[in-house]
Amino acid sequence: MSRTYRIAPSILSADFARLGDEVKNVLAAGADWIHFDVMDNHYVPNLTFGPMVCQALKKHAVYPDGRPAPIDVHLMVQPVDALAAAFAQAGADLISFHPDASAHVHRSIQAIKAAGCQVGLTFNPAMPLDVLDWVIDDLDLILLMSVNPGFGGQSFIESTLRKTEAVRRRIEACGKDIRLEIDGGIKADNIRRVADAGADTFVAGSAIFGQPDYKAVIDAMRAQLA
Ligand code: DX5
Ligand code: ZN
Repeated sequence: MSRTYRIAPSILSADFARLGDEVKNVLAAGADWIHFDVMDNHYVPNLTFGPMVCQALKKHAVYPDGRPAPIDVHLMVQPVDALAAAFAQAGADLISFHPDASAHVHRSIQAIKAAGCQVGLTFNPAMPLDVLDWVIDDLDLILLMSVNPGFGGQSFIESTLRKTEAVRRRIEACGKDIRLEIDGGIKADNIRRVADAGADTFVAGSAIFGQPDYKAVIDAMRAQLA
């Protein structure tokens, strides 16, 4: 089966003093989405940026031809709803949250959709997928963590491959067009295996922003996916 693959650089590993340029440059280098990691120093042991930064970056999140590029907000926050609403307001296109961070997962999903965004559920490496039994039809995206959330630059956890296969089976069974995104430790040398397991969207932070030539890395990833 042929899939449209998307590469979503995580600006967690970008130069925070030059975020607008980093976003523009990585899109010029061939990125599809901008992955925006929101950490609250509560759900995860790190603190990043909030809706005001998302709003400020919105005008920089454009492809070279001027079309807007999707901002893929990954909420690692607890509770979820108030910040999700603020990010919808700030121009997020997709908003994903961790089901274990919301007291009412179904309600959080509906609220994000009602705010006009696409919605995703995110699973930590050791989290079971059971909640999908009840809400998969409502989702646009499933985001599997292949590292424990909180930091860039960690190593890919191999059990994610089996989990990716399991999620792909669930997506096929439900018949809806749901993106399957993998986040953590993705590099040109493992992206093919992750795609073969069923992923179609790839977050990469340190692999891209850690190199001087973003286009060379993104091209190498696409060559693996071709
Ligand atoms: C981790 C974040 C990831 C992170 C990935 O909590 O959700 O998006 O930036 O970074 P790399 O690609 O360096 O593992
Ligand atoms: Zn992320």
